[in-house]
Amino acid sequence: MKTGQKMEKKKIKRTSQRNEMEITFDALSVNESFARVTAGAFVAPLDPTMEEISDIKTAVSEAVTNSVIHGYDDEFMKSNQIEGPGKIYMHCLIEEDVLHIEVRDTGKGIENIEQAMEPLYTSRPDMERSGMGFSFMEAFMDDLEVISKPGCGTVILMKKKMGVTSWIEQEE
Ligand SMILES: Nc1ncnc2c1ncn2[C@@H]1O[C@H](COP(=O)(O)OP(=O)(O)OP(=O)(O)O)[C@@H](O)[C@H]1O
Ligand SMILES: [Mg+2]
Repeated sequence: MKTGQKMEKKKIKRTSQRNEMEITFDALSVNESFARVTAGAFVAPLDPTMEEISDIKTAVSEAVTNSVIHGYDDEFMKSNQIEGPGKIYMHCLIEEDVLHIEVRDTGKGIENIEQAMEPLYTSRPDMERSGMGFSFMEAFMDDLEVISKPGCGTVILMKKKMGVTSWIEQEE
């Protein structure tokens, strides 16, 4: 920069391009980290903050863990004579500055969604679960919707508004 020239910080609004992906993977606990890393990598082009990435990864991890542990629990698999692991579907969409994440299973479903979403409620205290998964999803994302039908499965829909505004150095 030449002497006397002024350096001004200018706010630039970056609108993100629509982008979408869907993956299907086995309901195995090893795939929980695969799903969280994949979601983190998908949002990387938006230049998210460390906090945003961490929030997204945590929410995905809680949703996927629920499908593995509760959706496809042993009792459901045995009583429906399903062999092998069930499937989990994760769909991610970036539209404008909003990230949409859907995590879906075709497992046992939830009888009472309101009760399931209460902080500290768990149907598996025997597995030392703490009943905080939905509370974390709610806290770390901007919107959470749970759709479920006993015997058919569960769909978790989450939204997060991404901060796509950045400061850049620009000479006047
Ligand atoms: N995909 C799912 N299929 C069936 N039941 C589910 C599913 N996700 C959640 N649930 C039910 O909702 C309850 C609450 O879920 P939440 O994630 O809040 O707590 P948790 O999984 O029991 O404990 P934590 O997540 O703290 O380990 C679960 O105990 C379970 O009964
Ligand atoms: Mg949970």
